[in-house]
Amino acid sequence: MTEAVIRPLVVDDLPGVLLLEQRAHAFPWSAGNFGDALVSGYYMVAMETGGQLIGYGIVQVILDEGHLLNITIAPDLHGRGLGRELLLHLLDYAKTHTDTLFLEVRPSNTRAIALYQACGFNEVGLRRNYYPARDGGREDALLMAMAF
Ligand SMILES: CC(C)(COP(=O)(O)OP(=O)(O)OC[C@H]1O[C@@H](n2cnc3c(N)ncnc32)[C@H](O)[C@@H]1OP(=O)(O)O)[C@@H](O)C(=O)NCCC(=O)NCCS
Repeated sequence: MTEAVIRPLVVDDLPGVLLLEQRAHAFPWSAGNFGDALVSGYYMVAMETGGQLIGYGIVQVILDEGHLLNITIAPDLHGRGLGRELLLHLLDYAKTHTDTLFLEVRPSNTRAIALYQACGFNEVGLRRNYYPARDGGREDALLMAMAF
């Protein structure tokens, strides 16, 4: 695979981002969620190889706190180090713009949790019934954070 490039995400990326989001998440963000994030000026990047969108990441900054709102890699490319590469890029941004970066993750998302722990995030709390679940119920969120 040609080397991955990380660049600013722009409005023209949204159709491809939405397709990828629906493939990668059981409860995907809507077009409105992505549009709002763009309008709000969040830090949004696309990852691509050979002009093909393979991932994206979004960080919201409020004063000295950052929030990793979304990190997604195309499902057929999981486990090849791309998520780590994208997360390290987002961490570089967060380090220069925030004091602490927070994120929520489903306890069932063991791949994502392993990645976050490997990159230095610590578990700092639990948000009860934070996410919708497949059975119509709710799933807690682990709150993780990294201080810089
Ligand atoms: C989470 C996600 C971004 C990780 O991206 P990825 O490209 O698959 O991850 P990487 O290949 O960079 O792997 C990074 C680490 O994840 C862990 N990991 C990778 N594959 C794994 C697997 N099959 N099972 C458990 N952990 C795994 C390992 O700790 C790995 O580190 P290592 O390579 O040193 O062993 C990606 O799986 C994804 O897009 N998932 C769907 C969307 C999602 O859940 N986003 C996060 C929401 S909070």
